[in-house]
Amino acid sequence: MSQRIPVPEEVGRFYDQFTVLRDDTSGENMHFGYWDNPDSDIPLSEAADRLTDVMTDRLRIGRNSRVLDVGCGVGGPALRIARRTGAQVTGISISREQIIRADALAASAGLTHLAEFRHADAMRLPFPPESFDAAIAVESVFHMPDRTQVLGEIRQALRPGGRLVLTDFVERAPIPAAKRPIVDRYVEHFMMTLAQVDDYPPMLRRAGLRLDEILDISEHTVRQTFSRVSQQIDRTRQSLESESEAELVEQFDHADMADIPEFGSVLVVAHRP
Ligand SMILES: C[S@@+](CC[C@H](N)C(=O)[O-])C[C@H]1O[C@@H](n2cnc3c(N)ncnc32)[C@H](O)[C@@H]1O
Repeated sequence: MSQRIPVPEEVGRFYDQFTVLRDDTSGENMHFGYWDNPDSDIPLSEAADRLTDVMTDRLRIGRNSRVLDVGCGVGGPALRIARRTGAQVTGISISREQIIRADALAASAGLTHLAEFRHADAMRLPFPPESFDAAIAVESVFHMPDRTQVLGEIRQALRPGGRLVLTDFVERAPIPAAKRPIVDRYVEHFMMTLAQVDDYPPMLRRAGLRLDEILDISEHTVRQTFSRVSQQIDRTRQSLESESEAELVEQFDHADMADIPEFGSVLVVAHRP
């Protein structure tokens, strides 16, 4: 599969545009849901919080821990982590508009003492070595030009023993030729590359991190999220006010992705030795 390598500035502009257009209607999370029971009918917003919690529980953090959120979106996961654990969370995003929105959300939640946000590129993290006890990256590394470099940057920012928990999209098995154009279009539209599960052990090793756990969470996340997003988009289409918003929303039909079991999601846990 030939994949176009994402350019951080372009990814930033994509999310700027998305953030400005979708103001308060898109919620505080920009990631898949996690349904404990794949047939559960809990809504996407709740399931998205559940994914944050499933990841947070693996960070082993508490009050006063310093946590880095790599690719923080508009701050939903960081604020939830701060609220649930009392940890100090620093979120970074390549989108300036997301940082403005995240700051506003932290202020309205009364959490500015626990959560702060910065515009930064994860390929060059702007923190002194060993600044954090833990790091989380929720569905962000697939937008970055070089996963191994990002993992190395995270390693530098972690103290020895500090844990990293991330989720990433993977090609679980070769995607059948008939479905490949759908996946290619999705990956290109959202400026991603797809990893393979087997890429992770050597990438982590090269970055100086030690692997603790790789979990295929596809059955809890992928199909349900695509189906619900597609239903939401159908409803949103009926209430769209601007043509540019319609363009951004309509370029992709998420329902097509719900039927591709070879497209999956993994949760990876590692630590700095
Ligand atoms: C799918 S969103 C996930 C946002 C957030 N983690 C969440 O779950 O709500 C991907 C995020 O990765 C960020 N991102 C992508 N490339 C980045 C880079 N090179 N440096 C920093 N952030 C980046 C985007 O700006 C966006 O915030």
